[in-house]
Amino acid sequence: MSWQFLDIVEEGVLIDPSFKCGNKSIDRYLTKYAVKNHRNDISRAVVLVPVLGPKYVVGFYTLSSYHIRWDTLLPEDQEEIPKYGCPATLIGQFAVHLDKQGEGLGRKLLMHAFYECVKGSKVIGSKAVVVEVHPEDPRKDKNLAAYQDKWKFRPLKDKPLTLILKMDKVRKLFEP
Ligand SMILES: CC(C)(COP(=O)(O)OP(=O)(O)OC[C@H]1O[C@@H](n2cnc3c(N)ncnc32)[C@H](O)[C@@H]1OP(=O)(O)O)[C@@H](O)C(=O)NCCC(=O)NCCS
Repeated sequence: MSWQFLDIVEEGVLIDPSFKCGNKSIDRYLTKYAVKNHRNDISRAVVLVPVLGPKYVVGFYTLSSYHIRWDTLLPEDQEEIPKYGCPATLIGQFAVHLDKQGEGLGRKLLMHAFYECVKGSKVIGSKAVVVEVHPEDPRKDKNLAAYQDKWKFRPLKDKPLTLILKMDKVRKLFEP
């Protein structure tokens, strides 16, 4: 099956009100808030839909601006960062429909999100990509492990569920 990425507000995009990814708060976000926040310039939502047939959302992510306070960074991460902190890009939501999980779509979405973060950083400074794992996420440990072990995200000091990956490292993912 072939997939395409679209903005959530593009014509023809369909959101199943019973969308399920295994995390109810993310399901609720997609069905109730994603379009509203996109239209309202709060966060941009990108969806993954089939190229052929009805464009039902099988996965999505959101991006928005974020500010990292210098004193929340681990000492090793404070180098080069001004004391007043730095701008960053938050991947706020990230999910694939339960029926389609385990087929590589999560990785596809995440790589697309990373690429958009890199592209955005060429126009507006952004020192890092940020992800937040919800304390009540049923897959909290699995998600944390994926971000930290596979992608080398690092936690903020005293905030182990907020993770950052500096933009130079993200950019390297796309270098030949
Ligand atoms: C996380 C989720 C999007 C992964 O989707 P998926 O389609 O099953 O993922 P894939 O089939 O691509 O397989 C896993 C790949 O994604 C990565 N991955 C899995 N979960 C991940 C996560 N939470 N964060 C980052 N990467 C993750 C893995 O590293 C793996 O990459 P690899 O194949 O290169 O090793 C999906 O399980 C989901 O929607 N979960 C519920 C919502 C959720 O927990 N979202 C994350 C909030 S922090």
